[in-house]
Amino acid sequence: MAGITDAKFLNKVIPFGFNVATLGGYSLDAPTIEASEKIIQRGRKEFVFPLNETFAHIENEIASIKNVHSNVKVSVNVRSTTPQPIIDIGNIENLDIVEINCHCRQEEILNIGCGQEMLKRPDLGDFISQVVDNVACEVSVKIRANVDGIDTLKIARLIEQAGADYLHIDAMKKGVFDADYNLLENICNNVQIKVIGNNSVNNEANAQKMIETGVNGFSIARGVISGNLGFNISDF
Ligand SMILES: Cc1cc2nc3c(=O)[nH]c(=O)nc-3n(C[C@H](O)[C@H](O)[C@H](O)COP(=O)(O)O)c2cc1C
Repeated sequence: MAGITDAKFLNKVIPFGFNVATLGGYSLDAPTIEASEKIIQRGRKEFVFPLNETFAHIENEIASIKNVHSNVKVSVNVRSTTPQPIIDIGNIENLDIVEINCHCRQEEILNIGCGQEMLKRPDLGDFISQVVDNVACEVSVKIRANVDGIDTLKIARLIEQAGADYLHIDAMKKGVFDADYNLLENICNNVQIKVIGNNSVNNEANAQKMIETGVNGFSIARGVISGNLGFNISDF
């Protein structure tokens, strides 16, 4: 999830030791597709397909990974203003994890109440539960930490209560080019849900600091895209 996470790319990087590969993020409904098209117009690379083509495209991408790496879990990161399109993706055969994007901070996505604005929705718990109750696969919720006006621990508890399987946290801290390890540790000490830490894992030392917070796993985006990941994930 850093601009080029399609199956072709993921198949190349999985051998570095990853046990989950995330496709997307994809925009699934009319408002998020329209927002993403505006983002593309200003030069960003987003995964946008016409509404009637997204489902088949994601199905093919999952198969392309599973055909090569049958033991890797495949996750799909998705944006939608309502739960149903996410439920439809979550019922694709062979998909292991559907990930609800409560993380994107592109203005066009925020303007429609999606991405990290989802963290402010009074019905967020119900939104997540609807997905959890109606899909065959596991459910992850990707959030950004330290969003103004949001208590990250409170949100973590809400996501746990809603029944999600994973809390995927971009532990970003404003003004710091490193993850907020204290925040991750506090969350890990206060929830039972599996926590996947994210942000700034681009070397062994940062991977070690991430592990020491108590996370159940960590994810890497820019470090993989840059091609400079100087260590093997399976060493952790
Ligand atoms: C160009 C770009 C595109 C991204 N697209 C997504 C996305 O679609 N969904 C998502 O959840 N995160 C997205 N991210 C965020 C990354 O997945 C990750 O959370 C963030 O870059 C911090 O982790 P890192 O330090 O390992 O890169 C994107 C990041 C970049 C740089």
